[in-house]
Amino acid sequence: MKKKLIAGNWKMNGSLAVNEVLLKAMLAGVGRPGCQVAVCVPAVYLAQCQALLAGSVIELGAQDVSSHESGAYTGEISPAMLKEFGLRYVIVGHSERRQYHGETDELVAAKAQRALSTGITPIVCVGETLAEREAGHTEDVVKRQLAAVIHTNGHCISEVVVAYEPVWAIGTGLSATAEQAQQVHAVLRAQLKAASPNADRIKLLYGGSMNAANAQSLLSQADIDGGLIGGASLKASDFLTIIAAAS
Ligand code: PGA
Repeated sequence: MKKKLIAGNWKMNGSLAVNEVLLKAMLAGVGRPGCQVAVCVPAVYLAQCQALLAGSVIELGAQDVSSHESGAYTGEISPAMLKEFGLRYVIVGHSERRQYHGETDELVAAKAQRALSTGITPIVCVGETLAEREAGHTEDVVKRQLAAVIHTNGHCISEVVVAYEPVWAIGTGLSATAEQAQQVHAVLRAQLKAASPNADRIKLLYGGSMNAANAQSLLSQADIDGGLIGGASLKASDFLTIIAAAS
């Protein structure tokens, strides 16, 4: 059976002192989980987190990556640079980047491609806003976002992780119900199946106010292969509970 993936997205949180306490608490409690575990940390803390997580079951991820290989792109970080820190994952196309940094479907697809070509697994985020859901456009929006990534990445699509994160559920405490999430996951799975014979092995994560209380029911859905966890990944006990629910 496909192992689930529980990935923390720390967003712009943490400090050298806070990260150390958090990771040490996670390492003390994680044991040998029955799922894969990762934390996606701010880039400036990659070296610190790499050292703290060395030899452990918790893998390292970043939260964004440049679509360029190298050169005059002030402020950007290339996949090759990330790779030097033993990175396994990078989040691309998080709704906060689409919303606040104007990232387009095409840019997100290019970032996913650049990550893949460097041997880093992109966690590609898709999701609708509340207005889009209320207008009945949820499927159209997530399919359009995923189509760009499929188009750009061709048969490599089976190497990505996809995270369905309804924008209205992120950081709001208002998670999608397990049924709402599964419904969209089934749409995404069908789209991936049409694009790749290996679509069954693609991990489809749910993200958006997943927490210690609701993880079990979300993770029991047929097409939910894990979670991308924001707020609840900043508390070791909550994150460990979610890991246990996925194991
Ligand atoms: P949340 O964030 O769990 O705090 O809602 C999820 C995310 O944005 O990845």
